[in-house]
Amino acid sequence: MGRTHPWRGASSKEIFERAKQVFAGGVNHNARYFRPYPIAVARARGENIWDEDGNRYVDYWMGHMALLLGHSPEVVVRALRSQLPNGTHFGTSSRLSVELGEEIQETVPCAEMMRFCNTGAEATMYLVRLARAFTRKRVVVKITGGWHGYNTDLNVGVRPPFDRVEGKGILPEEQAHIRAARFNDLDSAERALKQARGDAAAIFLEPVLGAGGCIPAEKKYLSGLRDLADRSGCLLAFDEIITGYRVAFGGAQERYGVRPDLASLGKVVGGGLPIGVVCGSKDILSRADPSRKTGFVSIGGGTFSENPLTMTAGLATLRYLRKNRTRLYPRLEKFGSALRKGVDRAFSQAGVEAHTTGLGSLFMTHFGPLPANAEDSAKDDAGRGHDYAIGMIGSGVFLLPGHPGGISAAHKERDIDDFVTKSRNLALKWAGRRQNGKAKVTC
Ligand SMILES: Cc1ncc(COP(=O)(O)O)c(C=O)c1O
Repeated sequence: MGRTHPWRGASSKEIFERAKQVFAGGVNHNARYFRPYPIAVARARGENIWDEDGNRYVDYWMGHMALLLGHSPEVVVRALRSQLPNGTHFGTSSRLSVELGEEIQETVPCAEMMRFCNTGAEATMYLVRLARAFTRKRVVVKITGGWHGYNTDLNVGVRPPFDRVEGKGILPEEQAHIRAARFNDLDSAERALKQARGDAAAIFLEPVLGAGGCIPAEKKYLSGLRDLADRSGCLLAFDEIITGYRVAFGGAQERYGVRPDLASLGKVVGGGLPIGVVCGSKDILSRADPSRKTGFVSIGGGTFSENPLTMTAGLATLRYLRKNRTRLYPRLEKFGSALRKGVDRAFSQAGVEAHTTGLGSLFMTHFGPLPANAEDSAKDDAGRGHDYAIGMIGSGVFLLPGHPGGISAAHKERDIDDFVTKSRNLALKWAGRRQNGKAKVTC
């Protein structure tokens, strides 16, 4: 590419200027805005995206981490092509949706029964509703820094200073029964449950804290929460919208060996098309059966739930993962570990304090001490984090500033080597050294 800041091509800036006249802030998801302006992506394939000026970037944002097989994988494109002439939306049930449901049932330990919807935000909202109805209690213990989408219940304590609603228009009383607890801190969860005075419906968390810093839970923390939930008579709910099918075929619950009562899925499960899934034990999910005479819990779907395109893309993806899982997951693991270690080594050699957290294919570099939770992560040098992401974009690697990255099955060993080399070049530049270092990572 030969340019230092390829996203500064005229087209991305021009499109962003137009976008600002149409969309609030020029974006359709707050996470997508970054300084100086977002790149306008024209096309994507495999591990690559191209902007409107034709600049190529190796992508580690991967559609908000939804694309475990990379962009437009052949297996999904082929399946979608054959579905397209047979209907894009039925608005009824179909064999396809049952097959996708059965596939999830076979893989995700807690998924005895489920409901499909269209986004993760919907799934987590339904999950809260089900937990409250099933337990007949109100309080949800939510982890500080946990992001569960834009629903009203859970849009609190996401960003520092963590002690207020995320924006105007959400009434404090709408979140009156949400209690905060610190990630990876059992005592904090216990305190929150005590404050709930027997009114806790669920402890709700991401097993790998995502937006809060890409921080994996400690195993003893998750099993401790399981015990705590059982002792307190509340449910344990995992938001596996990022970790589902990513940190292991059966998600974090399989990897950690801790089975929640309820879980939300999304992203990877839709094979690149919109989906949310709320799943869990049969006795809880069966409350959503509309033929019930008593105790019915009203949750969606919606107009586009179980649409045949999402079902087709999801099925093609999950079947591919099932067939290739013994090869694919160890490879993602190896790449993730090489990237995390390589980046940390590069910064450490340049005398810059940095720690790359994550699990499996997930990663995020923190400029500051190693964080154990979102409160720690909030103390990172955010300016450095932004400069790092922008510097990487400038060298043809796409990271969304301030967000975790994800490796896909489409990434190659040379991409990981290149990522580390480019990180090292930036580290050396920052350290004021000559840019002649070339890191080699063996994946
Ligand atoms: C852990 C987690 N939960 C929920 C959501 C919300 O999903 P969606 O954006 O599909 O509404 C996200 C989205 O990034 C997420 O990362």
